[in-house]
Amino acid sequence: MSTISRIHRRLPRLSGPQTAVMSVAGVLCAAAAATALTGHTGIAVALLAVLGCISLATSMLLFRRLARAQRAGVIAQRDLRTTVEEMQRRLVAAVERERLTAGDRHLELAEAIAALRQLTGGQASAARLAALPAEFEATVQLFQGFTPRAPMPPPGEHTLDPAGLLDLLHLIRLRKPRLVLELGSGVSSVWIAYALEKTGGRLITLDHDAGFARRTRALLSAHGLDKTAEVRDAPLTPVGIDGHDHPWYDPEALADLHDIDFVLIDGPPAPDGEDTRHPALHMIENRLADRATVVATGPDVPASWSHLTPENEPGSRHAVLSFTRTTAMVPVQA
Ligand SMILES: C[S@@+](CC[C@H](N)C(=O)[O-])C[C@H]1O[C@@H](n2cnc3c(N)ncnc32)[C@H](O)[C@@H]1O
Repeated sequence: MSTISRIHRRLPRLSGPQTAVMSVAGVLCAAAAATALTGHTGIAVALLAVLGCISLATSMLLFRRLARAQRAGVIAQRDLRTTVEEMQRRLVAAVERERLTAGDRHLELAEAIAALRQLTGGQASAARLAALPAEFEATVQLFQGFTPRAPMPPPGEHTLDPAGLLDLLHLIRLRKPRLVLELGSGVSSVWIAYALEKTGGRLITLDHDAGFARRTRALLSAHGLDKTAEVRDAPLTPVGIDGHDHPWYDPEALADLHDIDFVLIDGPPAPDGEDTRHPALHMIENRLADRATVVATGPDVPASWSHLTPENEPGSRHAVLSFTRTTAMVPVQA
């Protein structure tokens, strides 16, 4: 590669007018040098003056361009700043919107939980909330099994939950008991009566509270189940077991019962935490059929029931036990 072409490569690329100006300046320089050397000093000075004018004009042109470029740079910088500020504003607005939306959601959730607490009488613990989908599923299955003839009250704090009811009704459908005794009446009495109406059994339910007995009676009547189920008033009375008095249903309410082949023990209520279910077996054992199913609400059963055979896993929602009469036990005869 020749030296000229190397220099040419290193020179910045010139535009057409720039090349023309440079060429004219080069020619003027060469002419001024030639005229000066040949003794035409006046012409040389004139040529140099023209060269100076051209340099001045070129410099002014360059300054103007530089000033324009600087102005354009300032404007571009200002536009950029405006764009960045606009984007920042939009970002802040979007974050604020999200924050408000999250706030709204939080408020809605808090309101829903409060409403739920109200519905469940203030007992909506986290565990209870977590159980809601399963309870809902069980409720759907309950209503698929029976079509109530009147509005069915929702389960409350004192009633068997839908999943417990579903298990209970399944057991009744399988075992088809002839006589069911329920200790503690309520909405469960209506569901049990619907099941027994289909299988051909009968329900006797005891209540210690005359008001609740009346309510259950009215419910059964509204559902047209008076022939299948009977509510008996059984105020709490001290019953003596092993030398101790325990509050239990008045035994008179059981006086005519025998061959009970299914028992649901869901009462009497235990306001002070005492296990009020304990006397139940002692009080009804001689009224049971030779084989009977005993369902007790709650996972634990009193130690005095150890002669019954557990049918389900310990810790289940309700204890399902089977009773088989031994020769030592004397049944009440019809
Ligand atoms: C555990 S509850 C029996 C509930 C019933 N087996 C049921 O599942 O619907 C025991 C007693 O509590 C009373 N009881 C029933 N429903 C009630 C309610 N909603 N509020 C307060 N006590 C109630 C009745 O006197 C009942 O005999």
